[in-house]
Amino acid sequence: MYKLSAHDYDLLYSQKDYEREAHTLRERLWRIDAGLHSILDVACGTGAHDEILCQYYEVDGLDLHAPFLECARLRNPGGTYHEADMCDFRLDRMYDAILCLFGSIGYTQTYGHLVAALRCCRDHLTQRGVVIVEPWVEPERWQSDHVWQTHSEREGVHITRMTHGHRMGGICAMDFYYLIGSPAAGIIHQQERHELGLFTKEHIRQALIEAGLTHVDYDADGLGHGLYTARVPESGTAGTGSG
Ligand SMILES: C[S@@+](CC[C@H](N)C(=O)[O-])C[C@H]1O[C@@H](n2cnc3c(N)ncnc32)[C@H](O)[C@@H]1O
Repeated sequence: MYKLSAHDYDLLYSQKDYEREAHTLRERLWRIDAGLHSILDVACGTGAHDEILCQYYEVDGLDLHAPFLECARLRNPGGTYHEADMCDFRLDRMYDAILCLFGSIGYTQTYGHLVAALRCCRDHLTQRGVVIVEPWVEPERWQSDHVWQTHSEREGVHITRMTHGHRMGGICAMDFYYLIGSPAAGIIHQQERHELGLFTKEHIRQALIEAGLTHVDYDADGLGHGLYTARVPESGTAGTGSG
């Protein structure tokens, strides 16, 4: 769980090109079905993708972290944002597309919770619905006991995050140490641990099928760690993977 404020999260990722990513997603959705109208952004964070996507679609979102949702509401005032767990949510609306981006799916941690999250997504998709998942790192690509750092600055406010990443079986644990410096507040230190599941391509493909989706496709060139796309089966068709 993030302790970081929405402002500091946005500063930390200020070099991430959310606008370009949102347009990549929009083109992908358009190629799949030019008639899609509504999107649910699962684990939407501060709504940086939604700010662009809402120019083309009706966009709602959900996340566990209430302060991030407040920021998302400001970015997309027409959207409805829910404080909810992606592994167990029930909304009173269906969507043409459900997105889960920037590795957020890794927070499901276990295969059972991964399937539960994808099943919740499946249950909120219309007949023409599509789910797009940008996965977290695969187990063989996770380097254990590794240290790295990122730094961003905007208008005199600096944030540096040093991470120690290690592995606990199928879970990667990351200890984040932040130094946040601003002329007004001086330098603040924060610390938090994040634990994410390391799922193989086969895990995710299988979980999408188990969740009742079909036409599972993986594009290694889509966003950071690639993109999975899967669809609601045509009425009466059992969920089977292809592609
Ligand atoms: C790496 S951030 C990505 C946020 C946003 N999608 C983006 O691209 O900036 C991961 C997000 O997942 C959210 N999250 C973690 N576990 C969650 C859960 N069980 N249900 C809903 N959201 C969750 C966090 O609060 C955080 O906003």
